[in-house]
Amino acid sequence: MKQAKRIENLPPYLFAELDRKIALKRDEGVDVISLGIGDPCEPTPQHIIDTLCREAHNPKHHRYPSYYGMPEFRRAIAGWYERRFGLSFDSNTEVLPLIGSKEGIAHIHTAYVDPGDIVLVPDPGYPVYNSGTILAGGVSYFMPLTAENDFLPDLEAIPGDVADKAKLMFLNYPNNPTAAVATEDFFKRVVEFAKSHNIVIAHDFPYSEITFDGYRAPSFMATPGAKDVAVEFHSLSKTYNMTGWRIGWVLGNPAVIEALGRVKSNIDSGIFNAIQEAGIVALEGPQDCVDEMCHIYRRRRDLVINTLSDLGIKIEPPKATIYIWFRVPQGHTSASFAEMVLDKAGVAMPPGSGYGPSGEGYARISLTVPDDRLKEALDRMAQTL
Ligand SMILES: Cc1ncc(COP(=O)(O)O)c(C=O)c1O
Repeated sequence: MKQAKRIENLPPYLFAELDRKIALKRDEGVDVISLGIGDPCEPTPQHIIDTLCREAHNPKHHRYPSYYGMPEFRRAIAGWYERRFGLSFDSNTEVLPLIGSKEGIAHIHTAYVDPGDIVLVPDPGYPVYNSGTILAGGVSYFMPLTAENDFLPDLEAIPGDVADKAKLMFLNYPNNPTAAVATEDFFKRVVEFAKSHNIVIAHDFPYSEITFDGYRAPSFMATPGAKDVAVEFHSLSKTYNMTGWRIGWVLGNPAVIEALGRVKSNIDSGIFNAIQEAGIVALEGPQDCVDEMCHIYRRRRDLVINTLSDLGIKIEPPKATIYIWFRVPQGHTSASFAEMVLDKAGVAMPPGSGYGPSGEGYARISLTVPDDRLKEALDRMAQTL
C-alpha cells in the first residue's frame, strides 16, 4: 500500500516516540519516572467533574453537538476574556470552541496554507505547528529562539521574500518548551510585521494562567491592531488539569474564525455538550484551584532549579509554564543526554532537538509529576551526573 506523499516527511510525534521508549524500559522492569509530557498529575477540580457527571445524564446532550460549540460556552469564553484581560469578543463570530487546542492548531493550516506556502514556525516550538505545515504541503521557515534574544524570534532576521511568501506565523508565550515570556513591545512589533507582510498570526496561549512571583501573562489580543491580523488559541487543559477532556478554543479575527469553523465543520462534529457545560463551570466557577496549581508548580520549579544549580546547571527561574528548559552538560547532545538519563537513571525527558533544530543542546523537564517522584527523579539524575 502506498502512503500519501504528504506524510513522507511527517516525523513520528515527539511524545509518541518518548512513550515507546518508556514502554520498552518498563518492559525491562525499570521504574521509569517520566518528566516528559506536560500533563498535570493532579485531578480536575471536583466542581468541574461533578458538572460533567450531572450533565452526562441529560439526554439532550446525547445528540450531535453544534459544530461551533454551545452559545453558552462561547459566551463563557468571551466573559472570561473580558474579566481576565478586559477584552471584548463577539461570542458568535469571534470565538470558536475546539476539541482541545491541538485540534485547531493542526487544522488552521488547512484554511490558510496552500502547497508551497511558507509558515513561520518558532524553533524550538510545539511540534504541531510544523506537522500541520507538512500535512498542508507547506514549508516551515524556522524562526530560531535563542537565549541571547530571550527566546523571542528576531523578526528582522526573516528575509523579506520569505516574509512575503508566508501565510501564517505561530507564536507561543508563555512558551513551551523554553518557558520564556514575551513583552508587549514585542507583540506590537509582530502586529506591524503581520500587517506589512499580510500574515495571519496564531498566538498559542495555553499557559497564560500558570505564572509565578506576581507575573501576569499578557494576551496577544490586547496589542493594538491584533484583531486585524491574529487569533489566539487557548485551552482548559493546563489551567484546570483537563488534558484528557479535550476542550479548548480559538478567538480573534472573525474572518480567520469563520475559515477555521468552515474547515472544522467538514471534519468533526464538535465537543460533547456535557463537557462544554463543565467548561462553563471551569471558567465561571471558583478560581482558587488555579492559584493552588501555580503554588504547586512554583514549589517544583524551585526544587528543579536548585538541584540543577547544585549540578552546575544554572538557570533563571522561569516566570511561567510547567517546564524547565536547560542546557545539557558539556560533551552531550540533547539526544545523548536524554538517552543517558533514561538508561542510567530511569528518568525520561524529551531532548531539546525534538522541538526543532535550535533546541539542540537543551532538554526539557516537565513539572507535572508528584513532588516525591520529582525529587526521586532529581536524586537519581544527580547520582548519574
Ligand atoms: C504550546 C502548546 N500548545 C498547545 C497544546 C495543546 O493543548 P490541548 O490539550 O489544548 O490540545 C500544548 C500541550 O502541551 C502546548 O504545550
